[in-house]
Amino acid sequence: MRVLGIETSCDETGVALYDGEHGLLAHAIYSQIPIHAEYGGVVPELASRDHVRKALPLIREVLDKAELTRTDIDAVAFTAGPGLIGALLVGAALGRSLAWALGVPAVGVHHMEGHLLAPLLEDSAPAFPFVALLVSGGHTQLVDVTGVGRYRILGESLDDAAGEAFDKTAKILGLSYPGGPVLSRLAEQGDPTRYRFPRPMTDRPGLDFSFSGLKTFALNTLREAEAEADGAIDAQTRADIARAFEEAVVDTLVIKCRRALRETGRRRLVLAGGVSANRRLRARMGEALAAEGREAHYPRPELCTDNGAMIAYAGWQRLNAGATEPLLFKPRARWPMEELQPVGPAII
Ligand code: KG4
Ligand code: ZN
Repeated sequence: MRVLGIETSCDETGVALYDGEHGLLAHAIYSQIPIHAEYGGVVPELASRDHVRKALPLIREVLDKAELTRTDIDAVAFTAGPGLIGALLVGAALGRSLAWALGVPAVGVHHMEGHLLAPLLEDSAPAFPFVALLVSGGHTQLVDVTGVGRYRILGESLDDAAGEAFDKTAKILGLSYPGGPVLSRLAEQGDPTRYRFPRPMTDRPGLDFSFSGLKTFALNTLREAEAEADGAIDAQTRADIARAFEEAVVDTLVIKCRRALRETGRRRLVLAGGVSANRRLRARMGEALAAEGREAHYPRPELCTDNGAMIAYAGWQRLNAGATEPLLFKPRARWPMEELQPVGPAII
């Protein structure tokens, strides 16, 4: 079965073709970064309008890349939530009506399930069961995964998501949107020994997170450095603060993931969502787990952030299990992952 995947939940238009036999045939992503950069964050209405502009050309591009035509599409998967409702509506309306016009089934996909299953697109796909760390702009969750749709939330952020903390701290440091990757590049030049940020909620039991205090810590550190330097801090100081912030987030995530693996007795960890593209996180997590005889899996960087491939793949999994979306589709801005229907028996 060849599934066309359409992702429009936020500021990236993603389209892909996934084939049950041959894997990912082609994918294309159009990022709206330049549109939102001048506002310092995503403007929902501008996002929706740009998805309208880019979705069809991207579908044509992906079909061309795969050397296929629209009659080769056996099913359509689109992101049905969670996300910006206007942006979701664009992909859902297009995906559902395209499937209707082609006379093929359609399925609405949960965006975070897409992220969670993305590592399964890679050659070294992890087997179930595993613990997943979902770290994106809107979510930070530790999930015990015993199959497709079998998700038990072990812990989550009580305030800012990890990506949100990166973006807000980047703003404090005067960096451009989207802050995560920019801050991370700056951090590479930073001295990790100059400042030390707290590791929130690691000194007590549990698997929840809290990242909002770190941006305040970054702001206070910056203000103190400015006061010492009479208002004009140098580039190195900014890099040192970025480094200290990144180290604190990475360290906290590593501590909580190791704890989750110990508590569940799982051997494999899957990292997914935009922040899993972070090089320092990938390196540190890989080292820490290898030292314990455990494995860390992550998708290639372009499949960590929003993309159509993960939606096509998650859609394929659900279509195989007989799921279809009625003509009356309903995108959801909020959608707890535990509400998803399990596919197949639990693997424990
Ligand atoms: O999964 P994603 O593309 O969209 C959501 O579903 O939210 O994640 C976007 C988030 C943003 O907060 C972005 O700053 C962050 O992921 N991000 C990163 C990196 N690349 C993306 N954060 C830290 N380091 C990166 N290399
Ligand atoms: Zn995402």
